[in-house]
Amino acid sequence: MAEAKKTFIPFYRPYLDEREVEEVADTLRSGWLTSGPKVERFEAEFAAYVGARRAIAVNSCTAGLHLALAAAGIGEGDEVITTPFTFCSTVNVVLHQRARPVLADICLDDYNIDPQEVERRITPRTRAIIPVHYAGQPCRQDELLDVARRRSLLVVEDAAHAVGAEYKGRRVGSLGDVTAFSFYATKNLTTGEGGMVTTGDDALAERIRLLSLHGLSHDAWGRYSEKGSWYYQVLAPGFKYNMSDIQAAIGIHQLAKLEGSIAARQRWASLYDRCFQDVGEVATPRVRAEVRHAWHLYVIRLEVERLTIDRARFIELLRERGIGTSVHFIPIHFHPWYRENLGYGPGDFPQAEAAYQGVVSLPLYPQMTGEQVTRVAETVIEVVRAHRR
Ligand SMILES: Cc1ncc(COP(=O)(O)O)c(C=O)c1O
Repeated sequence: MAEAKKTFIPFYRPYLDEREVEEVADTLRSGWLTSGPKVERFEAEFAAYVGARRAIAVNSCTAGLHLALAAAGIGEGDEVITTPFTFCSTVNVVLHQRARPVLADICLDDYNIDPQEVERRITPRTRAIIPVHYAGQPCRQDELLDVARRRSLLVVEDAAHAVGAEYKGRRVGSLGDVTAFSFYATKNLTTGEGGMVTTGDDALAERIRLLSLHGLSHDAWGRYSEKGSWYYQVLAPGFKYNMSDIQAAIGIHQLAKLEGSIAARQRWASLYDRCFQDVGEVATPRVRAEVRHAWHLYVIRLEVERLTIDRARFIELLRERGIGTSVHFIPIHFHPWYRENLGYGPGDFPQAEAAYQGVVSLPLYPQMTGEQVTRVAETVIEVVRAHRR
C-alpha cells in the first residue's frame, strides 16, 4: 500500500509534446492570434479526416450544438429529444433556444440512447434528436436515422466523446445531419477549450459559420488581413463562438496524432478487459460489432448490490490508494433545475438510473504505461474483494 501511494495516477492527462508547443509559439510570433490561417487549415484537415463536406471550428462542443439548433431554426414551442445520461450542456443548448428538451432512456449495454424510446416520445412538436456517442462508442445510428427520416427530424450528434469513432466503417462526423465535437482539456483531441461542427449541408454550414461570429458578413481574417476589407454587415444576431488560431495550432498536431492515440487507448482498454474478466462484480464496456470505439472513456459498472459499499465509497477508497476516477454521468433528471422545471424525477428513466448507480470511469490516456493500467485494475479488484457481500 505504501508503494501504491507513492505516485497518484490521475484520471486524465493531456497528450501534448513539442509539436504543439512549437506551433503555438509560431502563432504567437506570427502576430495573428484569432481565427485565421491556422483555423482554416485545422478545419480543412478535420473535414478530410472525418469525411465531412464542411467543418466549422468553434470554441466548445456546447457552442457547436447550440449553433446547430439555432441554424436549423429550432425555437420556442419545439421539442428536442435527447438522453438523460449526458453532460448538462446537451440539454442546456435546447433551453438556450427556448425549446423543450424531452428525455428518452438509454440501452444498458452501451449507455447510448434507445431508438425505440426516442420514437415513443415523438410528438407533433418534435423537431430534432440529439444522440450522444457515449464514451466514444457510436449510438445505434441506422435505427436512429431511420426514425428521424420517417418523422422528418433533424439529427444533431453530440460527438463530444467520439472524435475518431466509426460506425459501419464511416467516421462519426459524416453520418447524421450535423455533428458537434469537443476539444475540452480531457478529450481525445484537445485544444484546451474548443470544438468543431461538421455537416454535409452547405446551407446549414453557411448559417452556422455566420452565427458563430456575431452574424458578421466578414470575419476578422476577411477584414484585417492583407486581402481584407473594413466593411461588414450584421446579417443576424449571432454569437461569439469562433475558435482562435492559438487553439487551432494545438488542434492541428492533436489531429495528426489522433490515430496513434486511439490505438494506445484501445490497447489499454483491452488490458483492462483482460484484468477484469474473472471479476463478476465489475461489468466491463461492451463494444457493439459494427463500431470502432474511440475510447475516450473506459467505464466500468460495479454491481453494487453484490458489494457492502456504494459507488461513492468505492471512489473514495480508490483515491486513498492513489487512483483518480470520474463519473459519467449524473443523470440530467437528478439535477435540481431540470427536476423542478422539466417535471422529470427519479424513477422516470430506469436504465439511466441503473447505470448511474455503478459507473466509474477509470484513467485512460495514451501516455499510461502497462504497469499503471495494471495497478489501477489491481487496486479496483483489491477494493472489490475486500467488500464482497
Ligand atoms: C456528452 C458531452 N456533451 C457535451 C460536452 C460539452 O463539451 P464542451 O466542454 O466542449 O462544450 C461534454 C463535455 O464534457 C460532454 O461530455
